[in-house]
Amino acid sequence: MLGPVILAASHSDRMRRLISAAPVTRQVVDRFIPGETVDDVVPIVEDLTGRGLELTMDVVGEDITTPAQATAARDAYLRLVERLGPLELGTRAEMSVKLSMFGQALEGGHELALANVRPVVEAAAAIGTTVTLDAEDHTTLDSMFAIHEELRRDFPQTGCVIQAYLFRTEADARRLAAAGSRVRLVKGAYKEPAEVAHQQKHEIDKAYVRVLRTLMEGEGYPMVGSHDPRLISIAQELARQAGRKPDEYEFQMLYGIRSDEHLRLAAEGHRMRVYTAYGTDWYGYFMRRLAEKPANLLFFARSVITR
Ligand code: FDA
Repeated sequence: MLGPVILAASHSDRMRRLISAAPVTRQVVDRFIPGETVDDVVPIVEDLTGRGLELTMDVVGEDITTPAQATAARDAYLRLVERLGPLELGTRAEMSVKLSMFGQALEGGHELALANVRPVVEAAAAIGTTVTLDAEDHTTLDSMFAIHEELRRDFPQTGCVIQAYLFRTEADARRLAAAGSRVRLVKGAYKEPAEVAHQQKHEIDKAYVRVLRTLMEGEGYPMVGSHDPRLISIAQELARQAGRKPDEYEFQMLYGIRSDEHLRLAAEGHRMRVYTAYGTDWYGYFMRRLAEKPANLLFFARSVITR
């Protein structure tokens, strides 16, 4: 029950101010967002890749209100690419972007987001890596998929995310499971109405398995974005049934969540990519992590009270 309340609070400016100003917030935030600048995260990239993990890097930020903020987001990613280049990691360190941060919700937002994201995808390709377009709320997805298709004309390795909780996703997965595609499947992290999305956990999990089967049996490259132990075992079994070798799909998890599992799967010979977010505008990302596991909220509240 708490999850939807926390997700609603993730859009409240008043809550944003309150939570951002709480003295212990930074400590709790650090678990999920381990730095504010690119200098903070480069050592983390080196550490994780040194331990056999791969990364997808996210500069946090969304709900922007001006085109100048969208340009700043583009520039933040370009600075990241500049720092990743000399590390010569190729696709072991790729990037994830939210098109809302590139201006998608502003006037003329579709074109603006495409114009801002394209230089990032180009710069990523120039250092031998790629970009995945995150999935945000359902109203943004037609635009996201159109931008994805447009970018793939020149950069076919550009990935995208689909969300198991949405009814539309089974059809999206069938369309996307074609040769050369890179598709991350997640359960979905936004508050969506019953007209467009499954609301019950068991229904979302069943949908996840159906969609994952489509991706595994298809010709693209499935990226299994989940921390759910049951779904991870099922993914391994579906990959086996589809005759996929370990380098023909990958697991992805978020930084700070089930970190032992990241290492365990990598040690078993799986490709494991850690979604690592950094930046100053962490509020929306942080609130979604609280909503996924309300126990995180209790931990956060206890830190504030016992301080
Ligand atoms: P579930 O929520 O059932 O969690 C399984 C177990 O994992 C829990 O029991 C707990 O142990 C642990 N766990 C999960 N979340 C936790 C948390 N926040 N804190 C502590 N423990 C936690 N969503 C979206 O809408 N668009 C997107 O683009 C992305 N991108 C994305 C990338 C990657 C790499 C991942 C892993 C996830 C996303 N998501 C996302 C988020 C996704 O939709 C979903 O909200 C979370 O992954 C939680 O769902 P699980 O599949 O982990 O299962």
